[in-house]
Amino acid sequence: MAETDVDLVILGGGSGGYACALRAAELGMSVVLIDKAELGGTCLHRGCIPTKALLHAGEVADLARESEQFGVQASLHGVDAAGVRKYQEGVVSRLYKGLQGLVKGRGIQFVTGEGRLVSPTAVQVGDTTYTGKHVVLATGSAARTLPGLEVDGDRVLFSDHALKLDRVPASVIVLGGGVIGVEFASIWKSFGSDVTIVEALPHLVPLEDESSCKLLERAFRRRGITFKLGARFAGVEHTDQGVRVSLEDGETLEAELLLVAVGRGPVSADLGYEEVGVAVDRGFVKVDAYCQTNVPTISAVGDLIATPQLAHVGFGEGILVAERLAGLPVVPIDYAGVPRVTYSEPEVASVGLTEAQAVEKYGAEQVKTLTLDLAANGKSQILKTAGAVKLVQEKDGPVVGVHMVGSRVGELLAEAQLIYNWEALPSEVAQLIHAHPTQSEAVGEAHLALAGKPLHTHS
Ligand code: NAI
Repeated sequence: MAETDVDLVILGGGSGGYACALRAAELGMSVVLIDKAELGGTCLHRGCIPTKALLHAGEVADLARESEQFGVQASLHGVDAAGVRKYQEGVVSRLYKGLQGLVKGRGIQFVTGEGRLVSPTAVQVGDTTYTGKHVVLATGSAARTLPGLEVDGDRVLFSDHALKLDRVPASVIVLGGGVIGVEFASIWKSFGSDVTIVEALPHLVPLEDESSCKLLERAFRRRGITFKLGARFAGVEHTDQGVRVSLEDGETLEAELLLVAVGRGPVSADLGYEEVGVAVDRGFVKVDAYCQTNVPTISAVGDLIATPQLAHVGFGEGILVAERLAGLPVVPIDYAGVPRVTYSEPEVASVGLTEAQAVEKYGAEQVKTLTLDLAANGKSQILKTAGAVKLVQEKDGPVVGVHMVGSRVGELLAEAQLIYNWEALPSEVAQLIHAHPTQSEAVGEAHLALAGKPLHTHS
């Protein structure tokens, strides 16, 4: 049996694992990075990147379809699923090559194979044991289903299957109105499918500020996307043409396909974690604020731990662990300060606390909010998008939440994130001049109004 000794052995080459590897190598550590599939993980190959390419293709289709509104005579002849796939794969493969080059360039040893934790300092792949002074677990997450709901990859799909679909379905039922469900509903509607979302909670994207949920729902209604809220799934059966879904209230819905988007769960079973003594809770590896497990030589990052399942959270946690192991000073991540975007049309973007969370934290008397309608924003009018920027302020204090809905508002989060994380006062942001005409002005104008000196809005 071969043995390899390094500073750091990382199991899982997705966002969390590879970010940790890159930073550790930069800090002079020798690193082995192990993955059973391609370097880059879910985000690059089956998640963020390919989905956003589909969403962009959807935007192009919508623009062609709606071109007359802008005085341009274009028409949409159809969506060629193979052509879209080629575009999507081109984006992924260019990024994949770049990432492989980076990993190689930093002298990281990438090992393809199924790894298993065999001791507090070692991972075994086949006949080879990789021993490190420290081990980082980064095995990510996988789509979950409901009891009795079989995902066959043919008519009942997870997002992994949907990304590789060889056609535009005539109709789809999307089970789950969270981030994945809403993004795929948006894609398929843009491509011309009939879409119905079934969501158990009272709103789409239910973790967002309620005002954002309502704006998204209004926009989806206008787009002709059907959704059933407070509706629980009861069962599915195959029909000649596709699937028949029944809900707990007795209603039935029929479509060509069913997408199951009811959440993702950690991948931690049968990998040796518990045998080695790593504490696990409902499948999530337990960590402290520094991503350290109860075993001192083992850390864990990314979707495997119970923090927001976002690629950029994985990047941040991977970097934090590498720096901690290198002896650099590190501070725990403020997860409320992590930006969140649902890349549907329109986009939903937020950072910080929702109004409800702020009220819970500070008390209703101590919370002030301000909502700026995008109707007051020139660039948003040019784009013909509707939506809003909502600010949540601790009374006489900093802005503690920013919530936005509208086309392209995800790009405005960079500033919103600085405002939240730097604990900026509305009056401080109001001093900053925003370029005209941009959508970023909506953020500036909202702060002007919250600071008591509205410009293009009524006080
Ligand atoms: P999710 O947890 O965001 O949404 C799942 C939804 O399914 C919830 O709203 C839930 O109420 C609903 N649901 C659960 N059981 C149900 C039932 N029996 N009947 C009807 N509805 C039911 O999970 P999702 O959308 O699958 O995404 C997984 C993870 O991936 C999330 O943590 C998400 O943040 C992340 N992700 C992030 C993206 C982004 O940042 N743009 C894109 C895609 C995924």
